[in-house]
Amino acid sequence: MAVVTGGGTGIGRATARALAADGMRVLVVGRTPDTLAGTAAGHGDVRTLVADLTDDGVPERITAAALEAFGRLDVLVHNAAAVLPEPVGAVTREHARTQVETNLLAPVMLTRAALPALAAARGTVVAVGTAAVQGRRAFAGLSLYGATKTALDFLVRTWAVELAPLGVRAVGVAPGETDTCIGERMGWSPADIARHQAEAAARTPSGRVGRPEDVAWWITRLTRPEAVYASGTVVAVDGGASVA
Ligand SMILES: NC(=O)c1ccc[n+]([C@@H]2O[C@H](COP(=O)([O-])OP(=O)(O)OC[C@H]3O[C@@H](n4cnc5c(N)ncnc54)[C@H](OP(=O)(O)O)[C@@H]3O)[C@@H](O)[C@H]2O)c1
Repeated sequence: MAVVTGGGTGIGRATARALAADGMRVLVVGRTPDTLAGTAAGHGDVRTLVADLTDDGVPERITAAALEAFGRLDVLVHNAAAVLPEPVGAVTREHARTQVETNLLAPVMLTRAALPALAAARGTVVAVGTAAVQGRRAFAGLSLYGATKTALDFLVRTWAVELAPLGVRAVGVAPGETDTCIGERMGWSPADIARHQAEAAARTPSGRVGRPEDVAWWITRLTRPEAVYASGTVVAVDGGASVA
């Protein structure tokens, strides 16, 4: 059974539904009751938990809720993220802290809290990074966000080794430009988003930006028992953009 953070929207919503379609019961976590309810609507195997991942005690609450609902925890998807664009000359401590706490510390503390349950199920941890930081690339204007995602890839590698004796795998999925409300959250106008996506599609070998379902498919497959020999790896799901 699975927990998906940030499961009310975008890639998280598609992942929760794909996992449910694959036979998993899923707990989606986020701060907004309405969007979480939207994910669960019509999907009887999806439960919701309203929580801010950066609050004290939340990792333990999520783990307890999953165990209470399902009795076990097979899959933990760290998908929630904060993206606050700022060039380094304009970085604020508040935005820096939000990104580090949401994108980096929250997955660490939730993994720690969930570890006994994951070990009991010989489960899988999935971290959603970004293809924008694959290879030796800069991420101008998004250095702190990119740094948290780079660190997440490192955690995947390290956890794959640390957790192997417990029978727990760690994998990463790194989406390329994907059509979600992330641009809106970054404060972009509809015109900015359309221009940005058109530019991304033009530099992507597949010729389009991703859909949340493109990413969800890979997350679901990587958590299946047949994927047992994959650990410590980060799969870019970006239409080839990171190698073009
Ligand atoms: N879309 C892209 O082009 C793209 C590209 C590369 C990587 N990604 C990655 O894909 C993942 C999903 O992003 P998305 O594109 O689907 O964007 P999104 O729709 O904005 O999803 C982010 C989710 O995180 C949740 N969240 C944020 N802060 C939280 C907190 N403190 N506590 C609990 N939940 C929190 C949000 O829900 P609430 O606000 O309701 O809490 C939201 O559901 C992210 O890790 C992102 O970095 C996206």
